[in-house]
Amino acid sequence: MPEKDLIHLTIDGQRVEAPRGTVVLEAARAAGIRIPHYCYHPGLSRVGSCRLCLVEIEKSPKLQPSCSTPVSEGMVVRTGTPQALENRRSVLEFLLANHPLDCPVCDQAGECELQNYYMAHGRYDARYNDNKSKRKKATPIGPRIILDQERCILCTRCVRFTREISRTFELGVIERGHRSFIDIFPGRELENRYSGNIADICPVGAMTDRDFRFQCRVWFLGSADSVCPGCSRGCNIEIHYNNRFNPRYHTRRVERLKPRYNGRVNSYWMCDEGRYAYHAIDAPNRLSRPDPGPDGASGEDAWSSAIGRVAASIKDAVAGYGAESVAVVASPQMTNEELFAVRRLFFDALGIGTIAFRAPAREEPRSDDLLITADRHPNSRGAEILLPPGGGVGDLLRACSEGRIRVLYLFHHDLTAGYDPGFIRSALGRVPQVIFQGSWSHPTAELASVRLPAAVYAEKEGTFTNIQGRVQRIRAAVPPVGHSMPDLAILARLGAELGAPLGSDPEAVFDEIAGSVDAFSGMTYASLGGGGALLKQGAGA
Ligand code: FES
Repeated sequence: MPEKDLIHLTIDGQRVEAPRGTVVLEAARAAGIRIPHYCYHPGLSRVGSCRLCLVEIEKSPKLQPSCSTPVSEGMVVRTGTPQALENRRSVLEFLLANHPLDCPVCDQAGECELQNYYMAHGRYDARYNDNKSKRKKATPIGPRIILDQERCILCTRCVRFTREISRTFELGVIERGHRSFIDIFPGRELENRYSGNIADICPVGAMTDRDFRFQCRVWFLGSADSVCPGCSRGCNIEIHYNNRFNPRYHTRRVERLKPRYNGRVNSYWMCDEGRYAYHAIDAPNRLSRPDPGPDGASGEDAWSSAIGRVAASIKDAVAGYGAESVAVVASPQMTNEELFAVRRLFFDALGIGTIAFRAPAREEPRSDDLLITADRHPNSRGAEILLPPGGGVGDLLRACSEGRIRVLYLFHHDLTAGYDPGFIRSALGRVPQVIFQGSWSHPTAELASVRLPAAVYAEKEGTFTNIQGRVQRIRAAVPPVGHSMPDLAILARLGAELGAPLGSDPEAVFDEIAGSVDAFSGMTYASLGGGGALLKQGAGA
């Protein structure tokens, strides 16, 4: 940034530089100084209404709102003077005067800014002894959100979200002065495609998430940074998992998803479809162990038996009918590392040229101009770059129905979603060996002779390439369910059986990609950082 656009100021005795136009609160945050605030949210317009963020600014006769005061050259800011502290305490006393004593039963406990700021800055002896005002409690206002008006502090973040981000205008401030309250407009429901964000931005327990309500106390949650696999936008997320042993799954499992800030991808938001899709991770139709072989092997032995059978059928088909008798349908749900391994094994080592990855979708694409894209896969860009150019799934299915394919290796897809189920049954019925590697059982998986259970995105490491060409990391939050394994580990075992050694460590495979695929050159897991990196412009595979 040019020097002329940088402003120099002092905050709490610390010399700070900030871009021109930055507000004091953000300049302080960047310098590691946290100023308490409620109504301010960096993704929304500023209203300066809660007055909690007031600080002393030299030469100003009274306290100034740090959330709406831009930095200026030579400014001297003090955030912890007796006057600023007294203001915080007074604001909290006003806000809590009518606040119900819900903390023991409030779902926000542990991440409630009223609790946190009271403990840090309030701690006064209550002077308000009258009856607290009564408002609507625990009222569902849409499929995702419950409103508790008594807990609301009228920061209006939720109202501004529906006006500025979702642009659906369901919420408003009703009445004036001390009678004000937030409510849904008559006849409306809060059912926009981004409504879950309202629970995220509510600093108290007024707007809570119906899905997560009473599922887990937040202090039992661990977190892993990842990327939503719901569409090609690649919204940055945190996967929150229950840190305690869950007897139902014999291990810890995912409890909720939260958006993670990435100014170049999703800002502070994510859509509801992606947010609540985590339920599929532990859905009853998860494939959690390989089918027992003819020998009845189970557990680890079942894996050896299944891999052995798959390798033998591929070897036999290639030896007896040529490499063109084997076809592969990879999936844009797979990571870059896994797609690269598919290429290395099937194309480079075995000479199999029929590798498709695009299959028609179940639903009509429903994109919007905020985050949701029409492509419901997180890694179509990666598949385009890393897989050899091939025919579509349609051509491949025609070859199956004409009896030209001896082994079909299918990753993840449910082909009955985009094709007539009768056609799929008859086409796959002409293939002597259908191998399915994926995470869920569905009509296509049911047609396979061997099913290899694969881990989902929350159970493995790797990278996706989003619609912009941004390569972003996903991280394992929980262990793979049952005996399932990441696709990369399954491919490595199959490669070893077929005499084509492949790496099973995602980071080492990514280094191999960066060393051999021009578009990824120079990238490492470390260089991707938290926000990812763009593919090299104009580079091919
Ligand atoms: Fe500054 Fe509310 S955060 S006035």
